[in-house]
Amino acid sequence: MTQHVTTALPADATPDDSARREWWREAVIYQVYPRSFADGNGDGMGDLPGITARLPYLKRLGVDAVWFSPFYASPQADAGYDVADYRAVDPMFGTLTDAAELVREAHALGLRVIVDVVPNHCSDQHAWFREALRAGPGSPPRERFHFRSGKGEGGHLPPNDWESVFGGPAWTRVEDGEWYLHLFAPEQPDFNWDHPAVHEEFHSILRFWLDLGVDGFRIDVAHGLVKAAGLPDIGHEEQVSLLGKQSVPYFDQDGVHEIYRSWRRILQEYAGERIAVAEAWTPTVERSARYLRPDELHQAFNFEYLTTGWDADGLRDVIDRSLRAMNAVQAPATWVLSNHDVVRHCTRFADGDAARGLRRAKAATLLMLALPGSAYLYQGEELGLPEVTELPDEVRQDPAFFRSTGQGGRRDGCRVPMPWSGQRAPFGFGPAEGGPSWLPQPAGWRDLTAEAQDGDPSSTLEFYRRALAVRREHPALGAGRDVEWLDAPEGVLAFRRTSPRGTFVCTVNLSAAPVVYPTPGTVLVSSADVTPGATATNLPADSTVWWAA
Ligand code: NOJ
Repeated sequence: MTQHVTTALPADATPDDSARREWWREAVIYQVYPRSFADGNGDGMGDLPGITARLPYLKRLGVDAVWFSPFYASPQADAGYDVADYRAVDPMFGTLTDAAELVREAHALGLRVIVDVVPNHCSDQHAWFREALRAGPGSPPRERFHFRSGKGEGGHLPPNDWESVFGGPAWTRVEDGEWYLHLFAPEQPDFNWDHPAVHEEFHSILRFWLDLGVDGFRIDVAHGLVKAAGLPDIGHEEQVSLLGKQSVPYFDQDGVHEIYRSWRRILQEYAGERIAVAEAWTPTVERSARYLRPDELHQAFNFEYLTTGWDADGLRDVIDRSLRAMNAVQAPATWVLSNHDVVRHCTRFADGDAARGLRRAKAATLLMLALPGSAYLYQGEELGLPEVTELPDEVRQDPAFFRSTGQGGRRDGCRVPMPWSGQRAPFGFGPAEGGPSWLPQPAGWRDLTAEAQDGDPSSTLEFYRRALAVRREHPALGAGRDVEWLDAPEGVLAFRRTSPRGTFVCTVNLSAAPVVYPTPGTVLVSSADVTPGATATNLPADSTVWWAA
């Protein structure tokens, strides 16, 4: 049931310190995955009051904004990305009043709030879909989704050859014999964006949350809303994954851009620079930049950066191409290493050696935070949390795990609840020691809690705090549009960034051995111990150093 908040926040309730023009161009945005951040009521599931209580931690960390994965009413077939009511908070996360309180508290601390919006599909429990099922073939309610007759004798085959991102056909047959399209799980029917009612409904949903005071939206599957006319076959058998770069008739169709132009107009009606960021897996950064033309969205995730390995040439190439593509549309580049859909970067970079993974992860983070534009952090990376690879099958909830090989079905490993404090699970995630958590945490996380790391200068948490504080203060960090590459030996990246008030150099040694490099200045922050020499410095293996030049 939708609850209505009577006291919508005034639009000017956005935080003052971000009254900086175009705050989003250089913002550090922290992703909270509500199920796994903080459990206020002790039921083993994170919730909004739990998050609100932890907002001072995020303030102290030094981020500018917080993006929340969905907390809307949902049967949780895909951890909330199956929305049954876009204007209601799921009781497991709290109430709409809790959401308003969260926004208010965040703003009081000077943190911006970005919420997820899921426009490609809803839940099969959404009122429109239930109505469509009841109304039957050929009825107007079915037109808001993609219902079709099947192929073959008696229509027993799906209408086309599209595969779900989670594995298996992208079509499910209903009792009366028609099939409906779902690019993800069968519980997530795709909306038909050729229908005006779908446009109107999402305009109204955007306004609902903007009226409540949010500063922007992260648009789920932003590249998927429009399907090619006639829903043509793909004609090849390769599995299409969310991470894939294939060109397919249901992703990155030109028609999506008109939708985002209308969304931009709505965002601009509101004071306080409200923004939208696209989750758009496109074949190239140039295709992503098309979502960011001046009358469209503000940012798009840079998945090409995320999927680049620990490799000097590969990183330099993707940095150059990203900056070029984004500068061409006057949009900020964005950088991201982890989120709730991918293996945590600490583990991705480990190559079987956890210590190496953490070393590289910290170095990669410092590189990311040195680049011009906006950076996204995923909860727990500031604690150096690794992927949990040993989860027993019976606790897994990722729908892809139950349906063939779509994304490997391994997304639960990066969603394990945060360890906050104490010696025993759930490590302060919930109020009671020994209490429940929806996924089990490894016992070794007692050494990784925020409490254990707080105040320890050698901890990952203090490293993140330091880096974010310096990034906020140094005039040549974050802002700007370009990097000036400096000569560097193989396996090392070095670049300079200048502003009228200061010059900054970043060195990254991606090789497995120390490398001697001319000392560029004094150390601002480094991901590993470094002893600068008067003229030359040994850059440690797998390390990044920020220098004031
Ligand atoms: C992308 C989200 O990040 C992912 O978690 C979800 O499963 C799909 N979109 C479908 O909504």
